[in-house]
Amino acid sequence: MKPRVLITYNIFRDVYKEVLKDFEIIMPAEGIETFTLEDVLPVVDSFDAILSMWNFPINKQLLDAAKNLKIVSNYAVGYDNIDVVYATRCGVTVANTPDPVTEPTADIAMGLMLSLMRRIVDCDNMLREKKLEWGIMKNLGTSLYGKQLGILGMGRIGKAVARRALASGMTIAYHNRNRLTAIEEKLYSAKYMSLDELVATSDVLSLNAPLTSETYHVIDAKRLATMKPDAFLINTARGPLVDEKALIEALRNGTIKGAGLDVFETGESVCDELLALPNTVLVPHIGTQTVETRREMAEFAAGNIVNFFNGGRVARVNKF
Ligand code: GLV
Repeated sequence: MKPRVLITYNIFRDVYKEVLKDFEIIMPAEGIETFTLEDVLPVVDSFDAILSMWNFPINKQLLDAAKNLKIVSNYAVGYDNIDVVYATRCGVTVANTPDPVTEPTADIAMGLMLSLMRRIVDCDNMLREKKLEWGIMKNLGTSLYGKQLGILGMGRIGKAVARRALASGMTIAYHNRNRLTAIEEKLYSAKYMSLDELVATSDVLSLNAPLTSETYHVIDAKRLATMKPDAFLINTARGPLVDEKALIEALRNGTIKGAGLDVFETGESVCDELLALPNTVLVPHIGTQTVETRREMAEFAAGNIVNFFNGGRVARVNKF
């Protein structure tokens, strides 16, 4: 009997059919975007693998019901939708898609930085609305060159942001759970700092850490108050790393100069207070939203499942 794979989100049917040709796959019918937890719970015990979208909850209730589940392959590098501790206890391998998402996410971090600091979106809006005043000393932005970029989370994406920022003449400081090796620090010209020093000294702070209980609201009112008044915050990681209410206050009262956000505490919506702030650039979680990356993520997520059953490389996030 072929192993059975449940795919929660209806994209790339062609990719899944091809890569998972030796598996029986079940995914939402044409025209239906996604399965819900309620759809899945009554049938999940018959599946060996789940290919889950990043906002599909792989929680205790589902894991208890999934008696035959061996692997969850998440369509994302982030896996805060999955109860990894409980999955590990249940003997379920959890895998993600780190390789395809690194470069496009770093592009968006850099794009937000440039748009915000050089006022690209701001000037574009004013031009279209015929509100822009031309003039040598008008519409002044902030140079990236020579500024300190602080990277919180110096994993693959953090390093890819560092490479781009180095090319723009920025200096790199970072904080990470585990300090890089001396060789890597030299490779990225990156100076290790405590979290508090990083926050207080950076001209731009880029968040590139996963959402965990330790990083929840890691940027809160207290830390925002220690940032430079002309500093910028860039978040392409997960919304809840930042206390959004505190950020809105900080942007309103000039505690910091601006924020570029790809992710929000409210998930797939943006609160009106943020929308009303002129010193923000806001995009709808498009860090990995390119034609190429979306397909590569599907291939990678499906490949994790094939490799798990065939003994190949799996990008696992838990160990037994
Ligand atoms: C996207 O947000 C991802 O985690 O891959």
